[in-house]
Amino acid sequence: MQKIISFMLLCFSMIANSAGDVAAGGKKSAVCAACHGVQGIAASPIWPNLAGQHANYLVKQLKDFKQGNLRDSSVMGPFVLALTEQDMEDLAAFYSRLPRPKANPAKGLTKAGELLYRGGDFEKHIPACIACHGPSGTGNAEAGFPMVSGQQAPYMVAQLQQFKDGKRHNDLNAIMRDTSLRLSVDEMTAVAEYMAGMTQAAP
Ligand code: HEC
Ligand code: HEC
Repeated sequence: MQKIISFMLLCFSMIANSAGDVAAGGKKSAVCAACHGVQGIAASPIWPNLAGQHANYLVKQLKDFKQGNLRDSSVMGPFVLALTEQDMEDLAAFYSRLPRPKANPAKGLTKAGELLYRGGDFEKHIPACIACHGPSGTGNAEAGFPMVSGQQAPYMVAQLQQFKDGKRHNDLNAIMRDTSLRLSVDEMTAVAEYMAGMTQAAP
């Protein structure tokens, strides 16, 4: 009986260790706050918000930056070098539980962006973004589709351009590279501004 109990305790502690620790992540986030904000809301629109983003998506991005060849950034790259897998899990647990960014409709929802997001463009073979990023832009954690609602528009335009140039190539089945190849700069801007201004349900 004693043996069974200690085996069960061991299992529980293994489960606890495999997930991120929110409090530890909060402490480790001090160095990230300069750019991503104390509450995960970026200090500049060229940097991404992390608040309320899916934890598994965040961990994947940190790993991809560390690999360098999958997602390359001279700004973000140096900050992942020293991170262990446990650090990544802790940071992701912390950021994913922060309140999601508010919709940022400053530039307004452009009609062209809304049409593209919701319906794609059949003639140009652009898939509707809604299919993966969801009706309120909250993505799908299990599938690895990131939340895009309330994200910084200039950051998203830059990412679409990086997918188009092949500089960011960490997307499964090249789905975002294929999609962005068909987007003009005007379309990227319109759809990014629409996504930034999308309202969403609470996490
Ligand atoms: C000097 C500013 C700066 C600091 C400090 C910084 N980052 Fe970043 N971060 C960026 C930039 C810029 C990007 C976008 C890079 C690109 O172009 O792909 C980014 C992207 C990210 C992403 C991807 C977000 C997404 O939506 O795909 C994650 C996750 C992230 N950072 C986490 C962190 C963590 C965790 C730390 C602290 C250990 C940190 N960052 C420190 C600037 C910074
Ligand atoms: C079939 C699914 C799918 C469709 C359709 C799709 N996306 Fe994505 N998108 C993804 C996945 C998966 C990622 C994350 C890839 C990774 O880094 O793992 C992503 C990432 C992104 C990002 C980067 C987010 C960040 O935080 O860095 C933006 C911006 C984006 N998509 C915009 C769009 C737009 C605009 C459309 C429509 C024109 C679209 N997506 C259509 C699956 C999709």
